[in-house]
Amino acid sequence: MKIILLGAPGAGKGTQAEKICEKFNIPAISTGNIIREALRSGTEMGLKAKSYMDEGKLVPDEVVIGIIKERLAKEDCAGGFILDGFPRTIPQAEALDKMGIVIDKVVDIEVADDKIAARMSGRRVCEKCGASYHLEFKKPSVDGVCDACSGTLVQRKDDHPDTVLSRLEIYHKETEPLKSYYEAQNKLVIVEGQDEVADTTRLVFEALE
Ligand code: AP5
Repeated sequence: MKIILLGAPGAGKGTQAEKICEKFNIPAISTGNIIREALRSGTEMGLKAKSYMDEGKLVPDEVVIGIIKERLAKEDCAGGFILDGFPRTIPQAEALDKMGIVIDKVVDIEVADDKIAARMSGRRVCEKCGASYHLEFKKPSVDGVCDACSGTLVQRKDDHPDTVLSRLEIYHKETEPLKSYYEAQNKLVIVEGQDEVADTTRLVFEALE
């Protein structure tokens, strides 16, 4: 199954991508995670993307399209995949179509902007391995320490309140039009994001049936 997860920043795409990955045994591909990993490794692409990301702006289309082309060509994508955070603009969606990739379903997770701002302020990520936690909804066993690798948990630069507002603005302008794009292809399913992660997961699984 080839799935796209749409939704505003912080709507829970990454969280749900993990659940789908476990259930269907297909890789979850997050352009955000790939770029952050490149940044941690200090690659040229990571350095190029840094200023855009820190300010909450979209990284130029040609950079992310290149990342996705390379990633989807890998063997583990042959049986399907989940795209989390790609496409984010109409040109990115058109590029995916031009690659000849036929998407089965596009699940849009809807969460109101005011709820998103609250969720993002509580998110903490491991500076070493990138694992994601939340001060209230997904606490690590030991405060400030990653369960997976014992790295230190920090707030993402782009999760600061002002940056979250500008990410939401960009989402409404650049990414939300993708809903109509995929509705026209008869692939869009809308899921109302719930307060409990498990409740959203149940709705996402129903949408994928
Ligand atoms: P990216 O990493 O993709 O960020 P995003 O889309 O803004 O998404 P987030 O990771 O912030 O949120 P999410 O929806 O995955 O939510 P999560 O599950 O973590 O991109 C970052 C940047 O990279 C972009 O700004 C851009 O610069 C660049 N980039 C990436 N892709 C690009 C592209 N295609 N084109 C151009 N630039 C690109 O949940 C958020 C928090 O809420 C977590 O703490 C979680 O624990 C909590 N939570 C989740 N679900 C629930 C729930 N139901 N109830 C309560 N809390 C919950």
